Amino acid sequence: MARFIDELRRTHRCGELRGTDVGKEVVLFGWVDTYRDHGGCVFIDLRDREGVTQLVFDPNNPPEGSNVDLELVKQAHEMANSMRGEWVVGIRGIVRSRGKNVNPKMPTGEIEIGVIEAVVFNKAETPPFPVRDDLATKEEVRLQYRYIDLRRPKMQHIFKVRHRINQVTRNYFDQAGFFELETPFMVKYTPGGARNFLVPSRLQPGSFYALAESPQLYKQLFMVSGFDRYFQIVKCFRDEDGRVDRHPEFTQIDVEMSFVNPADVFNAMEGLIFRIWREVLGIDLKEKYPSGHFPHMKFDESMRKYGNDKPDMRFDMPHTDLTELVIDHDGGGVPFFQEIAAKFAAGKLRRDLPGEIVKALVVPASAEMSRAEVDKLEGFVKSMGAKGLARAKVAEDGSWTQSPFGKTATKEFIAAVNAACGVKTGDLLLFQFGKEALVQTVMANLRVHLAKKQGLIPESGHGGKFEFLWVVDPPLFEWDDDGHKWVAAHHAFTRPQEGSLEFLEKDPGKVLCYRYDLVLNGFEIGGGSIRLHDPEVQARVFKALGIDEDDARAKFGFLLDALKRGAPPHGGIALGMDRLTMLLSGTESLRDVIPWPKSQKGTDLLTDAPTTVTNEQLTEVHIRVVAPPPSDKGTSG
Ligand code: AMO
Repeated sequence: MARFIDELRRTHRCGELRGTDVGKEVVLFGWVDTYRDHGGCVFIDLRDREGVTQLVFDPNNPPEGSNVDLELVKQAHEMANSMRGEWVVGIRGIVRSRGKNVNPKMPTGEIEIGVIEAVVFNKAETPPFPVRDDLATKEEVRLQYRYIDLRRPKMQHIFKVRHRINQVTRNYFDQAGFFELETPFMVKYTPGGARNFLVPSRLQPGSFYALAESPQLYKQLFMVSGFDRYFQIVKCFRDEDGRVDRHPEFTQIDVEMSFVNPADVFNAMEGLIFRIWREVLGIDLKEKYPSGHFPHMKFDESMRKYGNDKPDMRFDMPHTDLTELVIDHDGGGVPFFQEIAAKFAAGKLRRDLPGEIVKALVVPASAEMSRAEVDKLEGFVKSMGAKGLARAKVAEDGSWTQSPFGKTATKEFIAAVNAACGVKTGDLLLFQFGKEALVQTVMANLRVHLAKKQGLIPESGHGGKFEFLWVVDPPLFEWDDDGHKWVAAHHAFTRPQEGSLEFLEKDPGKVLCYRYDLVLNGFEIGGGSIRLHDPEVQARVFKALGIDEDDARAKFGFLLDALKRGAPPHGGIALGMDRLTMLLSGTESLRDVIPWPKSQKGTDLLTDAPTTVTNEQLTEVHIRVVAPPPSDKGTSG
């Protein structure tokens, strides 16, 4: 029987002991965080997931007590002399007051442990980087040695938070009458969503499963099965390029409910968010949202004012859409705008179809941006594909200076733009014009960029502000410029709003639907919809999408069949669990909140996945690799 672990059981974690524990005999286990030798007396900070405790190994000033064997104290001191960073050790000792040397920065700073005996469980090689939060170690190295990176206090805290979110979520839904039910990961490939990861079938040569991009179809089938209320904390897989807020395998808090309208779904999710904020962060959102509900904004307003459907509402700085004004003023004497106005006049662009737009954004004089800083903005927008960033400074008499448009623009047009944008003397107008999608993206990102430059929001993190918003009533269809047709904006099973059914055939762009996104500080943290369960409307939606019956059957036959066999009205939503944790814990990237993340290139730097496999393995799953993957190392030729 080993002395430590078997006989000497751990009494406390390393972050637990306080002044009130002085005099107690304790047993602690952990990692050597820091080591200092003060001539005969060794100080070690011992670390575990709860914090650090200072250990003192001092044979000349041994702890007092009946259980103190001076021989053991001496041995422990010798051991401590050899201990190094990240060694795994155990100690028995007496809690002592630090007296005048209290360290107010450490939760355990009032006390130290006079060590009586020690054990080295395991030595450790010198770590590739110190286990400290204040060092900027390269991310690749941190991912390669993720198990060491995870020892950092910041990381331990994040995953404690993530654990809490999981527990609160499970409790909340259980109490609200939801069943936690599982759905398959290996599913039938259905077109139309994200790019899927494929899994070859050994038993069905030449056939593939897709890894589920979400449990969407199965959770709808759960409703048809009569489960009424479902939730799952579930992994989803999408083969998309990594970004700060995207990861190829991510986790959703997935929800589906029968016999509900959007308000029921909002209530359920607001209840969850309030609970998470209260129980994990200790923040009562009722102070900010006394009604218990988050504000709503229509999709159309969000696009018009902020350029996307996930506006950061911690600041305002809205865009002004000048398209109508440009048309009414025949371009207002500005050559670029005249071109656009002419296209509308000639019918090449239509007001009812997405095409080209003109937008402006105001930088207030109070922002005091230098010319050099404004020039830099040009580089910023060009990096997103914009051709440039037209600007105009508003002079005292309202005219435009420092502008390529200043001389040619008509007085009436300038006055109209100034009024529409609500500018004052010294304000700077920034313009974008051209293809709608690009203008919206550039202006949306520019708005956030400017807010950071002006200190309205921090570079990263929440800055203590949490602004939630439901973005509602988006269009059911989206215009596909390349294919020159309407496509489903989300998926074909979202219910159109009754009030816009009349447009299904004659003007699909006008059909709004019961879809909603939950936005927090400029990130979409959730999205869902009320589903289309009525076969008649469904047939009309498919028709508008150009999907004929055979096509629909081939793609979604199993769901269409199920919907005909007693499907209750139903709807749901999925929250992005990783995004939620990232925003709540104020970190900068999803990779910070996923314990074992992939790099931006989709590789696992810890294990080197993905790797090639043997020909035998490939043969077994009936696959032949036709071209060798390009080598990272390049060729000598
Ligand atoms: P959606 O595709 O909008 O909806 O996803 C729901 C939420 O999941 C998060 N999310 C991601 N997080 C990290 N990495 C990704 N690659 C990623 N993709 C999405 C976002 C998003 O809001 N089945 C529907 C939900 C429904 O209709 O009920 C769905 O998956 O926070």
